[in-house]
Amino acid sequence: MSFRIQSTVFPVAGLGTRFLPATKVSPKEMLPIVNKPLIQYAVEEALSAGAERLIFITSPSKRAIEQHFQANVELESALSDSGNKKMLALVQNIVPSNVECVFVQQGAPLGLGHAVLCARAAVGEAPFFVHLADDLIRSDTPCLEQMRQYYERYHSSVLAIEAVPNDRTANYGIVSVKKEPSGARRVDKIVEKPKPEEAPSNLAVVGRYLLTPAIFEQLEEGSPGAGGEIQLTDGIAGILEHESVHALLFEGTRYDCGSRLGYLKATVEYGLHNEEVGERFRKYLKGLTNKM
Ligand code: UTP
Repeated sequence: MSFRIQSTVFPVAGLGTRFLPATKVSPKEMLPIVNKPLIQYAVEEALSAGAERLIFITSPSKRAIEQHFQANVELESALSDSGNKKMLALVQNIVPSNVECVFVQQGAPLGLGHAVLCARAAVGEAPFFVHLADDLIRSDTPCLEQMRQYYERYHSSVLAIEAVPNDRTANYGIVSVKKEPSGARRVDKIVEKPKPEEAPSNLAVVGRYLLTPAIFEQLEEGSPGAGGEIQLTDGIAGILEHESVHALLFEGTRYDCGSRLGYLKATVEYGLHNEEVGERFRKYLKGLTNKM
């Protein structure tokens, strides 16, 4: 790994209204897929891309994420007393000791752009990842690592994108791209949640970004956009006027765990691949489909 992206920002301060009442006191990023919360999958992806500073933008009213990444002395001593070494290792090794965890509170949920802006002091003047944990991606090479390799080649911000059905553009930030001679896709326009008839393409930005610090200036200057929130998309549109931004059609399957259907699909797929219960779960599902 010749160029390391030090910091990853995890905005986890959203309201999570689509998952109420589960998200009344706990952030949606704590929802488990099999036995691991979404945020832990996210952290593992960032670590495998070489990140050493994890910056969580949290809500003052939901403290579970902070607690998940801190030691739980009582639980550890209970597991140690009962000789449960496997589970003890599991709770002690959530984050390696050389990795720094920073928690920044977003006073009010003013939008994803605002959440990213809250990370400014912790990130400093270097490119950084933004990871939305409710977009879970299963891939051979972790998505953030694919993006880091792309940055190494093009030295610009990188947005992970995928094609979505034309009638779904209003759920995403949508980009139009120009192909460069190298085959790379350079973003020439980005629009937040356009109606299908106004969308410049069907290429949607998903929850992985590699951004240069230029984004902070843009977010600082920007005024609230769609939905009265400070939109990350608007900040990226601002960067486009000064710097090139690339789009990467990543390899992998994305599960939108912020929606109920996407969450159920991820649970089934990750359940099927689970070492301990995968085979039995497969048999169960086969039996179930025969009855349908
Ligand atoms: P979403 O658009 O999915 O919003 O946020 P949400 O509030 O979490 O969920 P719904 O739509 O009400 O069900 C995308 C990501 O940005 C974070 C969320 O936690 C999520 O990871 N976010 C959003 C913040 O951290 N702060 C905000 O002000 C808004």
